[in-house]
Amino acid sequence: MSNIFTLYKLALVAFCCFFIQGYACSCPVLECFFVKESSGLSSSQEKSLLHISTDAHHQPTDMPHQLPSDISPEMIYYITDPEATLCHPTLHAPRGPIQKPQCEINPFLPHPSSIDWAASLTESALRSALNPIYLQADWFSAAVQYPDRQLVVSSVMRAPTATKEPSVILSVSSKSVSVQVRLGEPALLDCSLWADPSSPLSGSGFAVEWHYQFRGNGRLVLAYDGKNDQLASTGEEGATLDFGGLHEKGNASLILREAKVRHAGTYICSVFLPYLLAEVSVHLEIVEPPSLSIYPSPLPLSFPGQVVTVLCEASGFIPLSLELSWEYKGADGNTRPLGTGSVTSHRQGWDGTYSQNTRLDLDMAKLGLGTGGEVVCVAVHPGGTRRAAVALNVIGVSSPSIEDAMAMVGVALVLYGLIKIVSWTFSSSGTDDASRDKKDN
Ligand SMILES: *[C@@H]1O[C@H](CO)[C@@H](O)[C@H](O)[C@H]1NC(C)=O
Repeated sequence: MSNIFTLYKLALVAFCCFFIQGYACSCPVLECFFVKESSGLSSSQEKSLLHISTDAHHQPTDMPHQLPSDISPEMIYYITDPEATLCHPTLHAPRGPIQKPQCEINPFLPHPSSIDWAASLTESALRSALNPIYLQADWFSAAVQYPDRQLVVSSVMRAPTATKEPSVILSVSSKSVSVQVRLGEPALLDCSLWADPSSPLSGSGFAVEWHYQFRGNGRLVLAYDGKNDQLASTGEEGATLDFGGLHEKGNASLILREAKVRHAGTYICSVFLPYLLAEVSVHLEIVEPPSLSIYPSPLPLSFPGQVVTVLCEASGFIPLSLELSWEYKGADGNTRPLGTGSVTSHRQGWDGTYSQNTRLDLDMAKLGLGTGGEVVCVAVHPGGTRRAAVALNVIGVSSPSIEDAMAMVGVALVLYGLIKIVSWTFSSSGTDDASRDKKDN
């Protein structure tokens, strides 16, 4: 894992230097709340400043000239983050204002993992004769969220006691903290890990756990022991990792083969090193627009004065956020709203998706629908707007159109002509006979 990590790191450093010349690869200074759990339930928080640099030997040249008045000089930390996860390149390009990140830093206590499948990590760390002095230092965990960049980073850092110069040992990050997929599609929940290869803790293997959380319910989705290359059985089908990418690049993203309604919720990506743990959470939303059907279809032939009832059924949608309405599209192409109709309450199907209906009474007399057109059911949903249409034919409409009138005039003229010809033919032949009779007499 380390060779590619090193290359990746160099590329990042180069990128970083290119974009922020003069700062010698340091990141923007982060304002961070230092939160300490005091005795029991109470906790105290104090503002701190984090100067982050990719290079341990880089001395902080940008000493704080104008220290904000609400930050005490003891609350300034100089962090070495070789992987630059805490100041990711996506934060520099494109340049522009970034919404202030939310940052919290806490004291961290290294402890052996209590989880069964990560226990082998602690054992192997013990076997590798880890110097306990290494753990006796000042440890911190920091969590930084950039809400507008979809980025979240969580790091565990170690500072030689009382130096205020911590180095990042373990970083877990996600570049898409909120994911939307359609039902049945594969879902990728992004999570990356980085462990300082020079730390004695990183040689003893790592473990990854994905845990699902929704309204107080939780379940283990996937647990992978990277030391022994073993996957714990969790009963969750269709959930996997890219194991090659995990070992080579630290790609711990969870792949769900086929998104189902029950997959919607929050997922926590936890990465374990012996004695250390860092985690980030990623939110998955399943969004599926409804399918629409109209009943009856086709509509019966209608006549003025009749009331026709049309039903529109929207089914298979998630989440439960739907606006149903009706429109009428006349033969002239103009569309006008017909209101919402009477919308029923929703029902939930076996697969967790919802359905909902709306019924519309079409009064031919009142609406002035002309000779016909289309009745359209419109469903507005976060997954997209859907429409279904059915043709409406109105017969025996009272006011004839210009075409009808002209046709009638035409027919009348032809009839008039025919009658004229016939009557002329008969009357002329009658006169002939009469005159002949007269001559004969
Ligand atoms: C991680 O692996 C998944 C699945 O192979 C891939 O789609 C994704 O792009 C990878 N992420 C990174 C950052 O390489």
